[in-house]
Amino acid sequence: MIQRQKMTDEKVSPAAGVLDDFSQFENQLRPKKLTDYIGQSGVKQNLKIVIEAAKKRGEELDHILLHGAPGLGKTTLANIIANEFGVNIKVTSGPALEKQGDVASIVSNLGEHDILFIDEIHRLKPVVEEVLYTAMEDFGIDIIVGKGPSARNMRIKLPKFTLIGATTKVSMISAPLRSRFGSVFKLNFYEQMEIKEIILRSAKLLGVEIKDVPANLLAKSSRQVPRIANRLLKRVRDFAEVENKSVIDEGITKKALCAMGIDDIGLDQIDREILSVIIDKFRGGPVGLTTLSAAISEEKETIEDIYEPFLIKMGFLERTARGRIATERAYAHLGIALSDRFL
Ligand code: ADE
Repeated sequence: MIQRQKMTDEKVSPAAGVLDDFSQFENQLRPKKLTDYIGQSGVKQNLKIVIEAAKKRGEELDHILLHGAPGLGKTTLANIIANEFGVNIKVTSGPALEKQGDVASIVSNLGEHDILFIDEIHRLKPVVEEVLYTAMEDFGIDIIVGKGPSARNMRIKLPKFTLIGATTKVSMISAPLRSRFGSVFKLNFYEQMEIKEIILRSAKLLGVEIKDVPANLLAKSSRQVPRIANRLLKRVRDFAEVENKSVIDEGITKKALCAMGIDDIGLDQIDREILSVIIDKFRGGPVGLTTLSAAISEEKETIEDIYEPFLIKMGFLERTARGRIATERAYAHLGIALSDRFL
């Protein structure tokens, strides 16, 4: 379940221990130093100070909470922190930690000042979360030895470790857990120029040439998320390879984006379906998430976590107490005349 990971990026497996094709591809492109990490300048500046200060004091790093939408680089940053601090990192995830003993066995196998990275930390079970409190605060875990009247409490001493937690849902982190993190950093969506820089860097690492115009096209279609940018680059590279093109040009990029159903501002078929269903079936909204989920046959969580943040950010969708509403912009983008409601 848990993999001990050296400072290389060879293998990270939050739960299953197996990496799919894209995860391997993504790992290959992850920067290993803060200076190679593009964007999130405020977070980088703060991290640099936190790391330098802990090094000077010869102490472990404070516990760090990273939050932000999927694909913005939380795992990448955790690995960079371990690398920059010169310690090992063990990677797991909230759902993978099933019982208190799981935490005890992972943490007690860490070295002094090592890092435990828990992805999706908002999904920890309450019993597991509770044992983390003493582990984080006092570097100890209380266990009960024996049974019945002779049972007694025993404290296991743990190495001074650092917990890095990552979550896409910071509001679901309980106040007691949140308060135990010395630093809380929010990762934001990236600027288009930053995404372009990431695409150019990734292309270089992959040994493929990409022209300026297609790099811009891909950056525009990446929803301001590095993971999506790298995914698109991978698909376009495949298209170029099949057509025996040694350089990624505008033509092949447009062809690939079109085949993937991605439009010029990065909306995919499901984004457009969400908007058109709200407009056509629910007169522009408001429509509740459960109804919307049934209407387009997508899980509520997928709509909420993956699709909505970008649609809201682009000004196509509003989330209100009564439900989701398509904005005027959405009508314009889909080429649908405004309903009477807006006139
Ligand atoms: N690959 C994925 N995210 C990245 C980032 N922020 N900087 C550089 N390369 C990346």
